[in-house]
Amino acid sequence: MDWGMRNRLARMFRPPSGNSVMLAVDHGYFMGPTRRLEDVRGTVAPLLPHADAVALTRGILRACVPAESATPVVLRVSGGATVLQEDLSDEAITTSMPEAARLNVSAVALSVFVGAPHEHQSLVNLARLVDESAETGIPVLAITAVGKELEKRDARYLALACRVSAELGAQMVKTYYCEGFSKVVEGCPVPLVVAGGPKLDSDRAALELAHGAIADGARGIDMGRNIWQSDHPVAMLKALRAIVHERATVREAMDVLEAERAARVSAPSAA
Ligand code: 5RP
Repeated sequence: MDWGMRNRLARMFRPPSGNSVMLAVDHGYFMGPTRRLEDVRGTVAPLLPHADAVALTRGILRACVPAESATPVVLRVSGGATVLQEDLSDEAITTSMPEAARLNVSAVALSVFVGAPHEHQSLVNLARLVDESAETGIPVLAITAVGKELEKRDARYLALACRVSAELGAQMVKTYYCEGFSKVVEGCPVPLVVAGGPKLDSDRAALELAHGAIADGARGIDMGRNIWQSDHPVAMLKALRAIVHERATVREAMDVLEAERAARVSAPSAA
């Protein structure tokens, strides 16, 4: 692996843990203005300094992230379907690798839809991006999308999707946490990060998810709704950092969250 690619990966997977806390705000590319992400600029601004990377599309990057930001960017480059369609898997590459290079991103990301009608197309998209990543030094994050078929969130299915993505050359894979997740990790030779999925009942439940994933061998999280749909997004992000980077227990992470929340209530301008 060339220095440029190693450097991009090292900027996202941070010492001393070598893990990564990625903030996902790319939902609008197929969901439109998602709850509490209607104003992306306002949502993202206080969170950016606490994230090891931010995952978004080029339109949102240009419009909502200051060029002065030091937070590495994971650029979503696949799209072409919206929630109005039954089949979300009909995606193409929507942003080219030269454009990603111009935007100075640290990685590109695309969805792969294993088991969906457009499985072949999405896997070929991945393979093509990996070829281009060798030329530019920009690593590829494959996102094992489960779309509307959430019942596919089981270890056997996710292990298959993650392994296929790694075999095609993805340098990193994003997937979902599930029962038996260590099997998914075991079968995937590249770093795995986990998404949070729809907002869980409580902040604690999201911290438990992250804790379970890291304990089972995930190298980080790429989480959205359970951060910015929380009533305390910055506190939540800091609590997740404690789990991902310091291997904090859920109890310790809850303490971080409570302390941070209390500090922000007494000094609201810090929120
Ligand atoms: C959207 C995505 C999201 O980035 C991913 O699902 C993470 O966000 P969340 O934690 O809200 O699920 O890939 O397609």
